[in-house]
Amino acid sequence: MTSINKADVLLGLQWGDEGKGKIVDVLTPHYKMVARFQGGPNAGHTLVFEDKKFILHTIPSGIFHKGCLNVVGNGVVLDPFIISKELDQLKIPQEQLSESLFICGKAHLILPSHRLLDAAFEHRKGKLKIGSTLKGIGPAYTDKVARTGLRLADASMEDFPEKYKALKDEHFRLASSLDYNIDDLRLDGMDFAGYEKAWFEGLERLKSLPRIKSEVFVNEALDKGARVLAEGAQGTLLDIDFGSYPYVTSSNTITAGACIGLGLAPSRIGEVFGIFKAYCTRVGSGPFPTESHDAKGDILRDMGHEYGSTTGRPRRCGWLDLPALKYAVMINGVSRLIMTKADVLNTLPWIRVCTSYEIDGKQLDVYSSISGRENVKPVYREIKGWERSLEDVESFEQLPAGLLDYIVMIEEYTGVPVDIVSTGPDRKQTLFRRGSGILRRLTASYA
Ligand code: GDP
Ligand code: IMO
Ligand code: MG
Repeated sequence: MTSINKADVLLGLQWGDEGKGKIVDVLTPHYKMVARFQGGPNAGHTLVFEDKKFILHTIPSGIFHKGCLNVVGNGVVLDPFIISKELDQLKIPQEQLSESLFICGKAHLILPSHRLLDAAFEHRKGKLKIGSTLKGIGPAYTDKVARTGLRLADASMEDFPEKYKALKDEHFRLASSLDYNIDDLRLDGMDFAGYEKAWFEGLERLKSLPRIKSEVFVNEALDKGARVLAEGAQGTLLDIDFGSYPYVTSSNTITAGACIGLGLAPSRIGEVFGIFKAYCTRVGSGPFPTESHDAKGDILRDMGHEYGSTTGRPRRCGWLDLPALKYAVMINGVSRLIMTKADVLNTLPWIRVCTSYEIDGKQLDVYSSISGRENVKPVYREIKGWERSLEDVESFEQLPAGLLDYIVMIEEYTGVPVDIVSTGPDRKQTLFRRGSGILRRLTASYA
């Protein structure tokens, strides 16, 4: 049997913000291509290196490595204004950009009026609101599925102005039926008209970037032996099908989403890196069984700087949920685990880990039986903390015994090895497990 070159996938196993941006940036030197496959500017991926910090929303996290091809796939939704702002932040010369950033013409556009609708729907839901980032994600994906959306490639067509106006008018009719007052709307500090003007300027810039068909571009690169890393956004528990519906995002955030959002056959998926925090956070509404409402939750938020990268909202914080992690491992076919933010637990004398749930007096250890339910009581195992800084730790093997025990417990529960541990936000604060084959796997080329 001939072997085929496959794309690796890195994605979040919790409710997003697991540190995907940091780890993709760390892994990029081992890849020729980094490709985003879903989501849009609701994502905020933070990269820290050389005392600089960048937050990427749509642009793949490989962008700072010269020679890496960064792909925005068909499954992503694009806001030209936000991408343009991101490009300003990067300060990458135009000629370098045209060799490093490639956007699929099939990717759908988020119109300013999608953001209007997002605000109107959330306003209407009142207490039941999703807690959306209000970037227009849900309405843009709704139009895609309803077959009324506009794609990036449409923007170069002669009839684009009429199509844009027709869709915008439709959105305005819908917003007014929701009793939403457009004068209340502020989009990045602008009123609708101001934002729309900036949006069209951004669109012109977007049109000048290299346009691809992601299914052809990525498959051909794989055929030529290039190493490809698909970068997820959000997290498994926010997946439109398998997350805590309706408190989810509007795309498939899981491994299968990489197939759809880039045009890859399932047989072309190689390693699946599942990334998780040593505890849990969630931003926005929805069930969160292990949420800590006491001082420990505040400590996690303070120590972990848990404030949204996209919206600045405080993140809800709580303990690691093992049944949920195991569920995410199953859905994604995770082959290697990556743990981030272990350092946030450094000062705690004890740490809680949820191993099962109690609901209506019954004990359950399967996440799918409680997902989406509110009255769930987590059953915790309490473990002793390591109570020391990780700053001087130079290798995985030197991690404190308490933390290594914590890792072994996670591996035994999920059945998957933890091969990378992140001990701080900087690129350099990343430990690869020796003898796990991870480095060999990352440096091996397709023969
Ligand atoms: P993403 O959306 O998954 O890319 O994650 P975010 O960037 O939204 O949130 C992760 C936050 O944690 C960012 O501020 C990162 O700089 C930071 N971070 C990543 N890994 C670590 C780590 O191991 N320790 C600490 N303390 N911070 C980390
Ligand atoms: P990254 O890629 C964390 C959450 C929102 C809200 C729900 C729906 O940085 O991990 P949406 O804007 O999609 O309509 O919001 O999903 N959410 C995220 N939470 N990280 C993200 O992305 C998120 N993207 C969306 O807070 O609860
Ligand atoms: Mg984030």
